[in-house]
Amino acid sequence: MPHTHAATFPPMELTYLDHSATTPVRPDVLEAMLPYFSSSWGNPSSSHRFGRAARAGLELAKRETAGALGVEPNQVIFTSGGTEADNLALIGAALAARAHGRPMHVVTTAIEHKAALASCHAVVALGGKETILGVDADGIVRFDELDAVLKERPALVSVMWVNNEVGVVQPMVEIGARCRAAGVPLHSDAVQAFGKLPIDMNAAGCTLLSISGHKIGAPKGIGALIVRDRKIVEAIIHGGGQQYGIRPGTENVAGAVALGRAALIARRELDDHVIRLTALRNELVARLTAAVTDIVVHAQNVPHAPHIVSVSIPGAESEALLMHFDLAGIACSGGSACNTGAVEPSHVLVAMGVERSLALGTIRFSLGHETTAADLNRLTEAFPGIVERVRQLSVALGRA
Ligand SMILES: Cc1ncc(COP(=O)(O)O)c(C=O)c1O
Repeated sequence: MPHTHAATFPPMELTYLDHSATTPVRPDVLEAMLPYFSSSWGNPSSSHRFGRAARAGLELAKRETAGALGVEPNQVIFTSGGTEADNLALIGAALAARAHGRPMHVVTTAIEHKAALASCHAVVALGGKETILGVDADGIVRFDELDAVLKERPALVSVMWVNNEVGVVQPMVEIGARCRAAGVPLHSDAVQAFGKLPIDMNAAGCTLLSISGHKIGAPKGIGALIVRDRKIVEAIIHGGGQQYGIRPGTENVAGAVALGRAALIARRELDDHVIRLTALRNELVARLTAAVTDIVVHAQNVPHAPHIVSVSIPGAESEALLMHFDLAGIACSGGSACNTGAVEPSHVLVAMGVERSLALGTIRFSLGHETTAADLNRLTEAFPGIVERVRQLSVALGRA
């Protein structure tokens, strides 16, 4: 769907290729949530009719979210997003282990989102232990390291289903089988997988799963942790008894309704969506590599999500590329983080062994339900010229 920027003359056609960062709210989702700001604004814990109307919305949201994942409605714990869901899984599992007299030991991978990595560090700060598993050059978790740590019987293993930067899909069924054999519960951050790939928590032997609304057409600030065994998670915030005491606080009813509706739509459209995005992604990769032959496309040799294309461009820097794409009306994102002024390569690419200078020239294009062939045409037309200009700039600045 074309976006336009009316402030420029003539109005500039905009191309949004940053759906892994966030997505626009879908009109059907907005429509479903609006009554919970107007007619049904009660507190879902109140027993009177105002409360009952809100409670009905919350129950519908649980059913729709659960239905999209093939789990039970009472296994859906709404959170403020994917970040909180990851914190609840990892810190909550460590606290539950301690309550059962077991070590607070959590395990994750080196390519996780900061939400999971920082939660593991928080467990260490609480007196627990973390093990960070390495990955191979394609981003697949190292099974030898996983097998070794499982012998220690950690409280939880957490492996992201789809990586948000490079799109690699982990072999969740094999990982789950190993965890199950060792009697260790498995959590997956499925924020980038939900709505993009079929997710079968049974086949993957997953006890906990994080999802986020704003990646699938619901607003920001709503997500959920699917909890299939409440014994393994303790609350990390404290208050009333809402959501079985696992996540107290008056529920964000409108947000939950939005997440449920977005999940329902995503489930209904999944098969078509995967076919359409896979075709667009393949075409995009073919055109980009034909236009600039020395670019490196990450996670190309392994199963990858249909919506993420991560490319490193030798002799170019991410920040300059992003700026030039933005000037051309194309929104994408970089593979590096700017901390305290110094540009650092992404921890994901570093873990995959990508050379530092190459990692610093990485950009991500991420597609969504509204992406069309016209969007990709605009990108592929602009791509070689922008790469050429940014490379010349690097040479002129003495950086190449
Ligand atoms: C893999 C992954 N996990 C967690 C998050 C955090 O989700 P939220 O923005 O809902 O807190 C994101 C968002 O970028 C993500 O991509």
